[in-house]
Amino acid sequence: MAEAKSKPLIAFFDTKPYDREVFNQLNDDYGYQIKYFQYHITPDNCILAKDADVVVVFVNDIISSDVIDQLAGFGVKLVALRCSGFNNVDLKYAKGKIQIVRVPAYSPNAIAEHTVALMMTLNRKIHRAYFRTRDANFTLNGLMGFTMQGKTAGVIGTGKIGKALVRILRGFDMKVLAYDPYPDEKHAKEVGYSYVDLDSLMQQSDVISLNCPLTRETKWLIDKDAIGMMKKGVMIINTGRGKLIRTTDLIVGLKSGKVGSAGLDVYEEESEFFFEDLSDRVLFDDTLARLLTFNNVIITSHQAFFTREALMNIAGVTLGNIQDFFDGKKLVNEVVFSE
Ligand code: NAI
Repeated sequence: MAEAKSKPLIAFFDTKPYDREVFNQLNDDYGYQIKYFQYHITPDNCILAKDADVVVVFVNDIISSDVIDQLAGFGVKLVALRCSGFNNVDLKYAKGKIQIVRVPAYSPNAIAEHTVALMMTLNRKIHRAYFRTRDANFTLNGLMGFTMQGKTAGVIGTGKIGKALVRILRGFDMKVLAYDPYPDEKHAKEVGYSYVDLDSLMQQSDVISLNCPLTRETKWLIDKDAIGMMKKGVMIINTGRGKLIRTTDLIVGLKSGKVGSAGLDVYEEESEFFFEDLSDRVLFDDTLARLLTFNNVIITSHQAFFTREALMNIAGVTLGNIQDFFDGKKLVNEVVFSE
């Protein structure tokens, strides 16, 4: 009797209990063999994927040339990203060696809503009020915010997330300026916002939100020159990628008061810290430590995507991508290197 062919093996890196819960739930329909690993994939632990057919990774797993060579050597043909950004993959090197798929959109509104949560918390100083009232301090000194209505928001990148964000901000009756190398004038007209050049956006906005991908062009988009152009007291929100901001320049801006507040869901060197409990250790990143001392800075550890709906979408699309690969179908969510 012919032996039944065993189901493909998927190796998951950088997984937490909540990832395992949703993937296990949806895998009932697919029946893949799954091995979960808690840690990031690195050149030193790639060997864990030796028997795998597919490797699944997350935002801070670096898919370097070394990792690609090792995985390709084990016969892994597909790396599935459980995220939309793919700046962590050496796409040029991967070309022809291993295919890369991603989850292009899992819940743009989840990220847009978190962006607005950071804005409103910073503006109305909810993070400080929370501790004050717990300590029976019912004073308002230092908690004054501003009315969002009529203020100008600058949205950099009007893709899926930027568009969801603009709609919410228009709901506050804010004036919205946008910058995107590929403007969607039809959407702008429908929702009521205007595209301007980047300098004008920096100069005129009271609140600036970064919703573009990290690319060669956008690295350190917010640096001392950009901050120099901004209004005094500007609020900067980054739910895009850490390296969109040159953190040392942001700190100078915060110290001088030029930057009034900053909400950061991402950080340049986050891969060493975010998603981990390091509370019993000494924080050795001086830049991150300095940021954490400002009472007008809120850092969340890459949690903008973290809603039940988004996690279910991530798991569904990732398993769908993998199924398409095994079925020999066109990989609609493949990312390939382009010059
Ligand atoms: P998208 O691909 O739908 O939109 C990106 C937009 O940025 C496009 O309209 C593109 O034309 C524009 N863009 C490209 N280069 C630009 C530049 N130099 N300046 C201004 N705009 C530029 O992507 P989506 O889904 O809206 O996501 C945006 C980014 O948000 C992702 O690349 C990712 O880095 C980040 N993200 C963060 C998450 C979080 O949990 N904090 C979760 C998901 C995405």
